[in-house]
Amino acid sequence: MKEMLSVVIPTYNEKGNVTPLITAVHEALSGCEHEIIIVDDNSSDGTIDIVEKLKKKFPVKLFVRRDEKGLATAVIHGIRQATGNVVAVMDADLQHPPDILPKLYEAMLKGADMAIASRYVKGGGCPNWGLFRRVTSKVALRIAHILLPSSRRVKDPMSGFFMFRPEKVDLTVLKPIGYKIALEIMLVGDFKNIVEVPFIFRERSAGQSKLKVQTQVEYLSHILSLMSRTGEFWRFVKFIGVGISGTLVNIGVQSLVTTFTNWDTKLQLIPGIEVSIITNFLLNDFFTFSDRRTGKVGSFFGRLGKYNVIALVGAFINWGVASLLISHAALDVYLSNFIGIIIAFLWNYFFSMIWAWK
Ligand code: GDD
Ligand code: MN
Repeated sequence: MKEMLSVVIPTYNEKGNVTPLITAVHEALSGCEHEIIIVDDNSSDGTIDIVEKLKKKFPVKLFVRRDEKGLATAVIHGIRQATGNVVAVMDADLQHPPDILPKLYEAMLKGADMAIASRYVKGGGCPNWGLFRRVTSKVALRIAHILLPSSRRVKDPMSGFFMFRPEKVDLTVLKPIGYKIALEIMLVGDFKNIVEVPFIFRERSAGQSKLKVQTQVEYLSHILSLMSRTGEFWRFVKFIGVGISGTLVNIGVQSLVTTFTNWDTKLQLIPGIEVSIITNFLLNDFFTFSDRRTGKVGSFFGRLGKYNVIALVGAFINWGVASLLISHAALDVYLSNFIGIIIAFLWNYFFSMIWAWK
């Protein structure tokens, strides 16, 4: 691979944008060798003809896909055609300002193996967004950060504007669904040094956004797919297993205490609860979260303390939910307790992920 930047740009009905875009990209990159790879999904508005003409003046390669559609697969297609040792991905609608490209490339030349144009670092943003888009974007970001802890090293893993070294990722195993290609590449690849460069997400200059409700649904299935491919799903299963073992420990200790003491029945429950919290903690620390603990003695006790708080509040939630369902919804006692257990379990998992084993 030669020292060159390949800029991959997916297009779908962008006739009003491709000329100013390609001109601006070429100008911004005048200082370095580059190619512009346009992947079009058979646009019906004349985009293809315009790009064909632009090929005469600019270092443009055009790929038109006639039997496949979709942003993610279009981008992957373009990445596979790239011949540069650095690949950039950006949108065609000028929401990603081309003058950020040299800044990203500079970060790469200084040693980054991935550089993300970020809305959520100082100096970045999306000032033109309405409240709805702002909130959905933040919720989507939180979901990724919670469920995929390895995405936390970046503030804006959802950006569609980034650069990376293709040698760091096996391009044959990429299978993004929907819009979040940077997230996919970042989690599947082996990147040591990811840098974020601030940018302002501009208003669309022409045409319409292709973002639909379906895109949001696809996003959730993409998160699930990444969870299973990065081992996060397996972590969740382990946490369930540990929870079941804790229930057995809890009941075992309760029966021992009942046999050997003549305390009040309610008091006899307490040792089992605390012992099972500790065994759950140990199993989770050595097994479920083995990749997320640090070796220090102090932090071991720190995690133990945090997990104790989480689990005690969890037990209280379990008890509160079950009591409410029994008294107010007149549900069966066992069913009420079961629902309480599920809610407390989710609580425990959530705070274990974001606090005890942050
Ligand atoms: N080839 C191809 N096929 N291109 C497509 C398709 C498709 O099916 N759908 C969209 N595109 C192209 C558009 O032409 C545009 O260049 C780019 O992909 C982004 O599409 P938009 O519809 O403008 O997306 P957006 O502005 O809502 O979303 C952008 O911002 C998000 C951040 O909130 C994208 O950059 C997302 O990747 C990013 O997550
Ligand atoms: Mn757009």
